[in-house]
Amino acid sequence: EKGGFEWFMLKEIDEQPSAVADTLRGRHSPGGLLQLDEMRISDTELREVDKIIVIACGTSFYAAMVAKYAIEHWTRTPCEVELASEFRYRDPILNKSTLVVTISQSGETMDTLMAIRYARQQRARVLSICNTNGSTIPRESDAVIYTHAGPEVAVASTKGFLAQVVACYLLALYIAQVKGMKYGDEIDGILAEIGRIPDGIQRMLDEGDQMRKLATELAGSRSILFLGRHVGYPVALEGALKLKELAYIHAEGFAAGELKHGPIAVIEQGLPVFVIVPPKGRDQLQEKTVSNIQEIRARGARTIVLAEDGDEDVVPYADHLIRLPKVPTLLQPLVSTVPLQIFAAEFASQLGHDVDQPRNLAKSVTVE
Ligand code: F6R
Repeated sequence: EKGGFEWFMLKEIDEQPSAVADTLRGRHSPGGLLQLDEMRISDTELREVDKIIVIACGTSFYAAMVAKYAIEHWTRTPCEVELASEFRYRDPILNKSTLVVTISQSGETMDTLMAIRYARQQRARVLSICNTNGSTIPRESDAVIYTHAGPEVAVASTKGFLAQVVACYLLALYIAQVKGMKYGDEIDGILAEIGRIPDGIQRMLDEGDQMRKLATELAGSRSILFLGRHVGYPVALEGALKLKELAYIHAEGFAAGELKHGPIAVIEQGLPVFVIVPPKGRDQLQEKTVSNIQEIRARGARTIVLAEDGDEDVVPYADHLIRLPKVPTLLQPLVSTVPLQIFAAEFASQLGHDVDQPRNLAKSVTVE
């Protein structure tokens, strides 16, 4: 049932073009309104929402971090993200105009479930993004958007994550539409861009060999860093988490802009550092990231640069260059995450670890 793959994880990485396409399917007609499943929150209630809090654990939390950028950009509604295990212990301010969004692949994560119960006691509305039909989390929520990634067998989440990110974009666009921040044609345009993403993912899969080679070259590394900005920041965190959980080495993700506030001190000769470079454009994010690459390389880092096609600025500073298809900034995580997943799986596999069942981990974390 591994479909010719050595590990379920590699099979699930390979299924990501359809996980994304299936999560988009049937939710939109051109010029028409987005349709979400099990939306037991009325448009009137949604229009009254003045704060959104997105809550999750682990990899799903990184999808939540991406969601914040999309939600605030498209809906102009203030959005916070919070780890489920921290949320209810800080006495959060919630009321009936707060929309709590939870993200869970399994639908059974205890901390996330407890956050939902707490939020509903405070009279907040709860919408869940979930990959498992009939699981506890959607049952206890006011509204659900199911991701259609199909069952995830490997403990490390891959296709579940990409589908969650897509569901977050859909939710953000839905709220933008209901609140009148975005109209049919703009939404059509964004959805068309998302609709092209499966081809971009397929390309990253087709080019997966370079990640396998890189895993061989970097074998023996005891520490690997990941840097990103904007939505590339959660991608950096996700790249590091995958490596920690599968390869059992030290891996850490940083916001590239934070480098000079501390992390740059750990850069030493030969340290592998992945850098996710945003597309050129808005806010000089690309330029600032390129200067971060220069800074770490000058201190001896071995740079593995993920940058879009045509970005020549990075070439002089990249020891390894991984090309990404050109996509809008907000959507880049859907393509940039893929090579990091392949890298982690291959790196761990070459170390002889069980990629599908890493030590100490369970697929659903049903204890707090
Ligand atoms: C990482 C991973 C975990 C889960 C986390 C939340 O690869 O799989 O970090 O993302 O335990 O699980 P769900 O999404 O089922 O609530």
